[in-house]
Amino acid sequence: MAEFIFEIDGLTHQFTDGTIALKNLSLTIQQGKKIALLGNNGAGKSTLFQHLNGLLQPTSGCIQFKGKKLKYDRKALLSLRKQVGIVFQDPDSQLFSANVQQDISFGPMNLGWAKDEVLLKVEWAMKQTEVTELKDKPTHFLSLGQKKRVAIAGVLAMEPDVWILDEPTAGLDSYFSKQILTLLDHIHQPDKTIILSTHDVNLAYQWADEIIVMNDGKIIYQGDPATIFHHEELLHQAHLEKPWIVEVYQSLSEAGIFSVEASPRSKEELFQTWNLKSLE
Ligand SMILES: Nc1ncnc2c1ncn2[C@@H]1O[C@H](COP(=O)(O)OP(=O)(O)OP(=O)(O)O)[C@@H](O)[C@H]1O
Ligand SMILES: [Mg+2]
Repeated sequence: MAEFIFEIDGLTHQFTDGTIALKNLSLTIQQGKKIALLGNNGAGKSTLFQHLNGLLQPTSGCIQFKGKKLKYDRKALLSLRKQVGIVFQDPDSQLFSANVQQDISFGPMNLGWAKDEVLLKVEWAMKQTEVTELKDKPTHFLSLGQKKRVAIAGVLAMEPDVWILDEPTAGLDSYFSKQILTLLDHIHQPDKTIILSTHDVNLAYQWADEIIVMNDGKIIYQGDPATIFHHEELLHQAHLEKPWIVEVYQSLSEAGIFSVEASPRSKEELFQTWNLKSLE
């Protein structure tokens, strides 16, 4: 039986100004999955993420992590945050130390690791995210993309079991977007779960094993990365377009030029299938 890392039951969140951002939301997250969370602006993605890390508490409903109900005392939160790392949508909410290296060191230092170990992990994380050259730079002077990579390095250095990344590639150029996705693939193991939110349907379709779609504080789809893109109504509701590769596949299939069972997931897969077809 699949092991659930998170089980959310009837979660409602009302902010102090009265906005109900999550509405009786129920969701289970399986351990080891690579999940893309999609949904229109204001759907509740960031609010949901903050619940998974204990930054927000339910107005009603319940969240279980590894089979136990979340608790919100200091000790319980510290233990949760050791295991669940979050990269915020806005890196300015994440970075607060004087310089890059100090910022990335903050999390691992709080885990009580030895100084040498922290140093090694921080150096490794800086290398993986290509921020080593920036290590002495004040975080407030960094560009948006640099801040995002430093925030990712800070979580990387803590090696959490669950990664939550709120729009990690927004603001990154295409080189660094690809590099972050490669890094996430590298980190991904059967015991590591990665959940990222994105507005990039091409990224979600190519990268995820599972897609979740939110709209108006609710989950409107959870399933494989292909089926959602055949649900025209859901796509419209959540302001989602089809990935370009699905559109190409559908047009070519309709014209009888191309017929394979399922749409390729990436440009490489498309070319590979196409070459094989043209050799027949
Ligand atoms: N601190 C807050 N106080 C009041 N309302 C809030 C607060 N934070 C978020 N909201 C509201 O909650 C709803 C959900 O916001 P949230 O940031 O979770 O959406 P999102 O899906 O992450 O959107 P985006 O794609 O723009 O990042 C929105 O209507 C937003 O205005
Ligand atoms: Mg958001």
